[in-house]
Amino acid sequence: MCGVVGYIGKNNGVPIIIECLKNLEYRGYDSAGIAVINEKKLKIIRKQGKVADLEKAILEEGRSFIGIGHTRWATHGVPSEENAHPHQDCTGKIAVVHNGIIENYLSLKDMLISEGHKFKSDTDSEVIAHLIEKYYSDDIYKAVKESIKLMDGSYAIVVLHSDHPNQIIATKNKSPLILGLGKNENFIASDVPAILKYTNDIIFLEDGDLCQIFNKNIVIRNSNDKIIDRPVKKIDWNYEMAQKNGYDNFMLKEIFEQPRAIQETIISRISEDKGKVYFKEINLSDEKIRNIKRIVIVSCGTSWHAGLIGKIFIEKMARIPVTVEYASEFRYSEPIINENTLVIGISQSGETADTLAAMNEVKKYKSSIISICNVVGSSIARISDGVIYTHAGPEIGVASTKAFTTQLVVLYFFSVFLARINRNISIPQAIVRMKGIRNLQRKVDNVLKLNSQIKKLAEIFYKKKNILYIGRGVGFAIALEGALKLKEISYIHAEGYHAGEMKHGPIALIDKNMLVVVIALKGRRYNKIMNNIEEIKSRHGVVIAIVTEGDERIKKIADYTIPIPDVNEFLSTVLSIIPLQLFAYHIAIKKGCNVDQPRNLAKSVTVE
Ligand code: F6R
Repeated sequence: MCGVVGYIGKNNGVPIIIECLKNLEYRGYDSAGIAVINEKKLKIIRKQGKVADLEKAILEEGRSFIGIGHTRWATHGVPSEENAHPHQDCTGKIAVVHNGIIENYLSLKDMLISEGHKFKSDTDSEVIAHLIEKYYSDDIYKAVKESIKLMDGSYAIVVLHSDHPNQIIATKNKSPLILGLGKNENFIASDVPAILKYTNDIIFLEDGDLCQIFNKNIVIRNSNDKIIDRPVKKIDWNYEMAQKNGYDNFMLKEIFEQPRAIQETIISRISEDKGKVYFKEINLSDEKIRNIKRIVIVSCGTSWHAGLIGKIFIEKMARIPVTVEYASEFRYSEPIINENTLVIGISQSGETADTLAAMNEVKKYKSSIISICNVVGSSIARISDGVIYTHAGPEIGVASTKAFTTQLVVLYFFSVFLARINRNISIPQAIVRMKGIRNLQRKVDNVLKLNSQIKKLAEIFYKKKNILYIGRGVGFAIALEGALKLKEISYIHAEGYHAGEMKHGPIALIDKNMLVVVIALKGRRYNKIMNNIEEIKSRHGVVIAIVTEGDERIKKIADYTIPIPDVNEFLSTVLSIIPLQLFAYHIAIKKGCNVDQPRNLAKSVTVE
């Protein structure tokens, strides 16, 4: 939530900062601002609204070789020009952009007001500018260092001082911040896609790092005030991967990227004919894995739904008990875990504050920690003992799509991997499990061909006020995820429910106006789900069923069917969510919603 950026170098920083802010806009988009230094004077422009509005306002602002920028997702104070960043101190010489929450800002504000500081916004962030002013004599680095000693909470802070036009100061605690290294120019940003156009050489900062960024070099000191060399990582994403490339929006592009993303996540991890899965990245010995008595998955949102499916995969194949926890609850739950527990954090961004906090909590219990992440070098990846990366490429649309399906693929193979090590399945059984995967990419392609059929359904139902999604087994988690996709981008109330629970209450909702999307694939629960459909139809509800190709029986009772290829239960999860992603997408587009930047949301939830 909120994106920060800074540039110093040989080029005019204004268009560069605007470009970076556009790439960061998925983190927040209710207001934006930029500060540059021109002839030892700070120039600040802020606008309520999108980065494009800011861009229009700064066209005549000329050149500057140093600047910072911000795109906001409001936490403290409504979206407005006054509350937009950069914030300034009383002298007008200091400009600050901030991502995070200063939890003790009220007491700091009281103190600063009593010392004569004048505040202009309702934000927590403004205290940072005034604190730096309080400690500033002639060294901006020292002033920031002293200020952060007083702050509680999470922050990625980037600071300019007009008397120091040769350096940017930046620091972080629990909010992501990366450095991008260029030739005679350097960048700082909340995340990698922001600066991919300019560099792939990235340093991931650690909590407590305090940096002086000059155009030719960067000095990083750690929390013990020691100059430290952080490793430079070459990121293999490129600028095009983070662009729309001809699609109307990122969400559609990312839905259609799923065949490639899935293939790249699988590639080099399995040897199908040997029934072997390779997860060299996770650093756990076979003996350690054999000692795992329990697995706990922690995650949020869509990643939590992937966790629900992962539980079913792992318990079925490896016969290890799994619980799936909301990361936001886990750390307050006095977890019963120990050195024989494996904790798996699932996170596309690798920066979700609740998941990160939950995983930090685990450290106390000596459990092994691995994560399934999409963003290389992200905070969650870094605190884990091992990371399995989904190779989905940058996911920019706020609604998670390709990250989810690649997480499912990783969880599927991870289950086979565990099951082989604890010898719960034989090599031939592992081979059988892997067989379907070879054709998965082609099958995903086939499901995507249903796009125009699904668009027609969206045109029929886009005016609905409520839609129910139901399923059983893995289909229940798909129902939850389908409902989440719809509500977050179209603002239609959508509820995912366990089909077996319908008679325990929700069936009362069914009448001729209620649309029910049913995950009704062939398998052990097929007859039961058929009963659910009959019960809905007897009450005049309208049914769209996701069915197995060739299922003629359901066609006779459901109002509409969407057939997906016949694959095993595990792989069916990947195929059955895609029509629901498309359904949500087309409904939202038909309603005129911004699918990439839905209201009130941000891509990375970096505050708890
Ligand atoms: C929904 C969505 C969110 C995220 C959640 C966790 O489409 O994207 O629910 O899944 O905020 O984010 P990550 O996976 O980055 O930890």
